[in-house]
Amino acid sequence: MVTIKSQREINMMKKSGELLASIHKEIAKMMRPGLTTWDIEVFVDDYLKKHGATPEQKGYRGYEYATCASINDEICHGFPRKQPLKNGDLVTIDMVVNLNGGLADSAWSYVVGEADESVLKLMDVTKTALYKGIEQVKPGNRIGDIGHAIQTYVEGEGYSVVRDFIGHGIGPSIHEKPEVPHFGLPGKGLRIKEGMVFTIEPMVNVGRYHSKMDANGWTARTADGSLSCQYEHTLAVTKDGVIILTDQDSTGDDN
Ligand code: MF3
Ligand code: CO
Repeated sequence: MVTIKSQREINMMKKSGELLASIHKEIAKMMRPGLTTWDIEVFVDDYLKKHGATPEQKGYRGYEYATCASINDEICHGFPRKQPLKNGDLVTIDMVVNLNGGLADSAWSYVVGEADESVLKLMDVTKTALYKGIEQVKPGNRIGDIGHAIQTYVEGEGYSVVRDFIGHGIGPSIHEKPEVPHFGLPGKGLRIKEGMVFTIEPMVNVGRYHSKMDANGWTARTADGSLSCQYEHTLAVTKDGVIILTDQDSTGDDN
């Protein structure tokens, strides 16, 4: 069942999303060779505490960390670790923030130090794919319209879209209905309604879309070893269109 959120719930999730967006903007400033994803984990944990929020991912189905940190060929759910990041690494930081019961989920990709042209291109296509998906979010459209817009664009650029992990409804728990694939057919799937809140979070690979699971049971990486990138926003559907609850551009402090 897809729950419809009240204006009050959406406002609470928006507050949480603003906090999450400000964390990503801080991480962007920290990113440099030698930093570890464990440093980021500790920073996020402290930042949330200072702002009266909690890391919703910690303890979720046995996951032990506030953040997911996925480096290079890792697609998602990488563990934060003490291995120093190297010049040119591509790292995705993903987290779910709980502020007074309001949840928000956002992943962002960063390049460490000087970026290779090919990495910048992958990042640009992945971020654009997210926004092409967001454009389809309006009452009356269908979930398949989102995936279709993303898949058509990404494959047209010569990359592939991961199939094994998809966007999801969110709040009060991390994963709710609807399921939001980043591939699909236009006019298919559930109709999008006012009051729905869900994520769009395309994972885009340079090579093929297939993933394989690490022995830790969490971390997925590309089967062919190619680079993978991800951007994710939490979105609320209103009668006038969409609100990006985790928007980094609407919180002041340019970056
Ligand atoms: N933030 C993740 C998502 O986008 C949720 C990860 S759940 C965890 O779906 F337990 F792995 F953290
Ligand atoms: Co996420």
